[in-house]
Amino acid sequence: MHTLRIGHDPLGQIISRVANLSGEYLAPYRTEHIREAIERRLQALNLPSFEAYLAYLDVEPLEACATLNEAFVGVTRFFRDAEAFEALAHQLARRFRQRSDPLRVYVAACSTGQEALSIFILLERLCQALALPRPEPLLATDINPHAINAAREGVYTTEQLRDLSASIRRQFFGPSPHGFYLLDHYQQRIHYQVSDVLQGLPPRRFDLICCRNLLIYLKPPAQLHLLQSLHDALHPEGLLFLGAYESAASLPALFALVDAKHSIYSRRH
Ligand SMILES: C[S@@+](CC[C@H](N)C(=O)[O-])C[C@H]1O[C@@H](n2cnc3c(N)ncnc32)[C@H](O)[C@@H]1O
Repeated sequence: MHTLRIGHDPLGQIISRVANLSGEYLAPYRTEHIREAIERRLQALNLPSFEAYLAYLDVEPLEACATLNEAFVGVTRFFRDAEAFEALAHQLARRFRQRSDPLRVYVAACSTGQEALSIFILLERLCQALALPRPEPLLATDINPHAINAAREGVYTTEQLRDLSASIRRQFFGPSPHGFYLLDHYQQRIHYQVSDVLQGLPPRRFDLICCRNLLIYLKPPAQLHLLQSLHDALHPEGLLFLGAYESAASLPALFALVDAKHSIYSRRH
């Protein structure tokens, strides 16, 4: 998927240049999305055109990191679409109520950790309420190493924690000079890794994969490629949790709809 092509248009040339400088190939992402990301960089650097940006990349090769940061859009928050998380908890309880071995869960494109933590908190509470075994340590990945470093630190501001109830804050977080930190014995149960999901997913059969708000940034062929990989990484009984504006409906042979409103699917065998 990452074969380098030299683009003839300025945007294509920027994508090729960034790939040469950073090893990350932005061609699978929607052109409009990349165009907007680079326009934000032009504005930040006060540069007049894509051609000027290309020239700037020649003298400031580290700018390629800023291009990537802008393109990977790490926007996230705890329990984003709270109702969807409630729907997920309901589906997990229905499906795994009788489960005797620990659930395996993977959060792809986890950004700075808020979503991985939301899933982690949901599972801790659900397994306790249903007297299920504690899940295996949760695997969470993102392509952006800066995001993964922040997730590993596990420190969040009061503002970032605003969507969490007081009882969750008390149970899972302790005060730190910069806000709140996830208590160590919980942090140890989340394994964060830098990884590009378009290059492949961990070769495990997960009971739940959460991959939210990444597909929307990809071109259709890359979306299909990722959905196929997500299918292959799921256990035959597993659930896929997508973002509010994402769907696996284009692949009915691979996924069955479980909850349309909240983008929850199950793997078809
Ligand atoms: C908009 S954020 C979504 C974060 C979180 N899933 C949520 O919904 O709150 C998109 C994330 O996808 C990550 N990402 C983009 N391309 C990726 C790729 N090829 N592999 C893994 N992560 C990727 C970005 O770094 C960013 O953190």
